[in-house]
This record gives sequence, C-alpha cells and structure tokens, in this order.
Amino acid sequence: MVFSVKTFISIYIFFVLLPSCFSSNHASIPTLSGFSAKIINRNSPQSPFYNPNLTRIDRIKTSFLRSHTNAASPNLVDTKLRYTDSEYVMEYYIGTPAIKTYGILDTGSSLTWLQCEPCQECYRQTRAPIFDPSKSSTFNHLSCKDIRCSRMIGTRRCEENGKCPYGIIYADASYSMGNLAQETLIFDNDDRNVTHPKVVIGCGNKNTKFDHALEGIPGIIGLNTDEASIITQLSYKDFSYCFGDFENPLKTGYAKFGDKSIIKGYKTPFQILDSRHHYHLTLEGITVDSFRLPIPKDAFTVKKNPFSIKGGFIIDSGCTGTFLNRTAHTILVDHLIQKFSTWKNLKRHPEVEHRSGFKLCYEFTWVTFKFIPVLTFHFTNADFQIPNYNSWVPVEGATYCFTIFPTDEQSILGNFQQQNFDIGYDLRNNIVSFSYNGNCKDGELRE
Ligand SMILES: *[C@@H]1O[C@H](CO)[C@@H](O)[C@H](O)[C@H]1NC(C)=O
Ligand SMILES: *[C@@H]1O[C@H](CO)[C@@H](O)[C@H](O)[C@H]1NC(C)=O
Ligand SMILES: *[C@@H]1O[C@H](CO)[C@@H](O)[C@H](O)[C@H]1NC(C)=O
Repeated sequence: MVFSVKTFISIYIFFVLLPSCFSSNHASIPTLSGFSAKIINRNSPQSPFYNPNLTRIDRIKTSFLRSHTNAASPNLVDTKLRYTDSEYVMEYYIGTPAIKTYGILDTGSSLTWLQCEPCQECYRQTRAPIFDPSKSSTFNHLSCKDIRCSRMIGTRRCEENGKCPYGIIYADASYSMGNLAQETLIFDNDDRNVTHPKVVIGCGNKNTKFDHALEGIPGIIGLNTDEASIITQLSYKDFSYCFGDFENPLKTGYAKFGDKSIIKGYKTPFQILDSRHHYHLTLEGITVDSFRLPIPKDAFTVKKNPFSIKGGFIIDSGCTGTFLNRTAHTILVDHLIQKFSTWKNLKRHPEVEHRSGFKLCYEFTWVTFKFIPVLTFHFTNADFQIPNYNSWVPVEGATYCFTIFPTDEQSILGNFQQQNFDIGYDLRNNIVSFSYNGNCKDGELRE
C-alpha cells in the first residue's frame, strides 16, 4: 500500500476543496484553432469495448442502473457515482511513440486520467493497451514543487519521491490513484493531427471499478472549467459534442474544440457555483405536452451553506440517465401514470420493471409511442424539448422504460437525453447551447 486510507482521503479532500481558491489566468498561452475528434458508442461492434456476450437487458442495466446507489458521504466523493456509467468515449493518442487510447468525455470532472503501468492494481483493459510511460520519451512526472501540483490537486506536501500524487474516489467506491505527469496528447482531427505537448494528466497505477467483470475504458477526459481540465490547460474557449444514437451504435459522433465547436440553436447561461466546477443550468420548470407541472420553485435551485452546496441542476456528459429532485420527479411520474391510465390497452409491465430494475415501463406499439407526452425542460431562455427516444429506452421487445430517475442530491441532465443534439459550451459568454442534429451529421455551422 502506497497510501493509507487516511492519506488517500486527505489527498482527495484537497483535490475537491482547494482548486476553487485559485483564480485562473492563462492569457500567456496562444489561442489554438481547434480540432474535431471521433466519439464512439462503447456498445458499437467497432468499439474496443464491445462485449458480444452481454444481452440487451444486461447492457441497458449496466448503462443506467448502476447510478442508482446514493453517495454515502457526498462531501468525500466525486458526484460522478460511477465513472464507467457512460456510453460515449473519445479516441486520442498519448505519448511518443503515440498509442491510441480512449476516455469517457466528462463535463462533470476535471482531471484527465488513464490506467498506467506499472499497475499495482488495474481493472480489466485488454483491448486497448495500458499506457506504459517507460516506453514514452515525452513522459515526465510533475514535481510536487511545481505550482500546478498545488493548483490542480491542492496538495502542498512533497513525498520523498518528489512526485505529485492524486486520488479520486467515486461514490460506488471505484477509484483512481497515481501521480500527475506531463505528456503529449494527440487528437486526430479529420486527417490532420493536433498535438498538445506537456499536458498534465493523471497516470493511475491503482484503479478499481465496480463491475470488474466488464472490459474497462482506459480513463476519463475531464471537461469542467477547473485548473486540471484539458479545456483550461489547452486554453480552448469553447467545445461541443454530439453523441450518436444510443440505438444505433454504428453511428459515430464527435467532440469539437476551439473554433471547430458548434455553438448554435437554443442558448442558456451556465454558472460555476461549486468547487467541483460543474456546469449549472437554471431549470425553471417542466412541461408535459402543454401542461406545466406544479413543481415548487426551489426544486432545482442551489442551496448554500458555509461549507458546501446542495441541490442545483447540472449538465453532465458522463452520466447516462437524467436525475431530478425527488419532489419534482414524483410530480412528473404521477402525471405520466395518470395520463397513461386513460389509454385503452396500454400495458404497464411490472415483470420487466422487476427484471430490469427500472421503475416505470410500458408496452408501446410504434403508433402509441408517437403519442407519448413530450417533455420540455424550460431552461432560462431555452426550451429543451426532449424527443421520446431520449426519454424512453426499449428494454425488452416493445417494452420501454423511463430513463429519468429521482435523486435527493443534485439534479443532472445526462447523456441519454442529450443524444442526437449538438451541445455547445461557450466559455467566453458562459452559455450552453443545444440544437437537434439527428445522427450527428457533421456540420461546421455556427451562429
Ligand atoms: C464471451 O464469452 C466467452 C465464453 O465464455 C469468453 O471466452 C469471452 O472472453 C467472452 N468475451 C468477452 C468480450 O467478454
Ligand atoms: C495521428 O497520430 C497517430 C499517432 O501518432 C497516427 O497513428 C495517425 O496515423 C496520425 N494521423 C494522421 C492523419 O496523421
Ligand atoms: C427538492 O425539492 C424540494 C421541494 O421543492 C426542496 O424542498 C428540496 O430542498 C429539494 N432538494 C434539493 C436537494 O435541492
């Protein structure tokens, strides 16, 4: 054991609490033009993470339902309940000579990390090689004396080895621990590579994840606005992504950075309100068809106390389902159940609910599917109308289950609800944009 649990937790506390104390000022780095990178659905047969042995119901369960456990001690853990609970991974290259690897695109966290040799403990990752720094001529550990060590993970202590240790623990007890390092990252940009030398990343020598049995994704690409995030390090002022269709994993999507980003359509302000640098949106209400639900005004607001904040509503690319404040969720689901109860011959499916773990499943025909009431989330200045395919997932045969879940913590707009939209983050104007784009047809449009 390199870290005792106590050391580990104290590193982590620094990690989550301190970064916000430092102001960001990166004016010295020249603005780069940007790039576009491929996003693949992990369930695509082309994906290295595709597992032909998983049944559909298993696949859906692993995507959605593992996020249901609640954090035991929310202040000690990342809000990401599971770090593998995402469908969408981005390809990139690391090191010299470069190897191809993958990371979950995560607007809900900061540090980009990946499993690294020598592995004291690594989860299963056989289909993309585990990164071996000893084979890369551009790899350098970040010194604990480097200002970025304290800025990014908040620790000022130097261990005897002079390295800058990090630890991230997730609510499901998955974790990644290792050292910060500088390394070259290469992004494949429509036949022209964009190379970023000396990016600070986490090189994780001790990593676990909850479902050991499944092929693991090498790591995470953190996209919040914190010091450690590649967005901040590379000084891009905007980025966007379009996640392909959950049901059509052969379709790839893209993530775009800098002047390639697609910022168009509806625009709503975001705010950074907490030390985790999440993108908070203001959700003013929810409409079902044309009926505005009587949700209390404070359901999605941030509740502050001197040491932490609670509640609020964030957009998170790294979380599969959407989570709504329990009070609001009950109002929404009761309304839907009441509406469906007036439909002749519509069958609710308790057996599928039991087998799958979802709480609300109905058997729709392709005709009745079209009549499912449409949800609209009213963000400030922007109505996000959610296509039914982004609210209901087919689980067994014609039985679809509702992918919006209750929470007693922060509410989250997850990636299932974001599929087939161009979602843009404009960090100059603090705006999140969304624009429907079926199948993520690539376009360079900007407004
Ligand atoms: C699928 O199952 C077979 C037989 O049990 C096993 O050999 C193989 O490794 C499994 N494939 C994956 C991707 O888990
Ligand atoms: C980009 O870099 C990777 C890794 O060095 C290489 O395999 C790939 O062919 C390069 N692509 C282009 C278009 O140069
Ligand atoms: C959820 O909504 C209720 C009712 O509006 C509110 O009292 C409660 O504080 C909210 N919970 C959170 C975590 O924001």
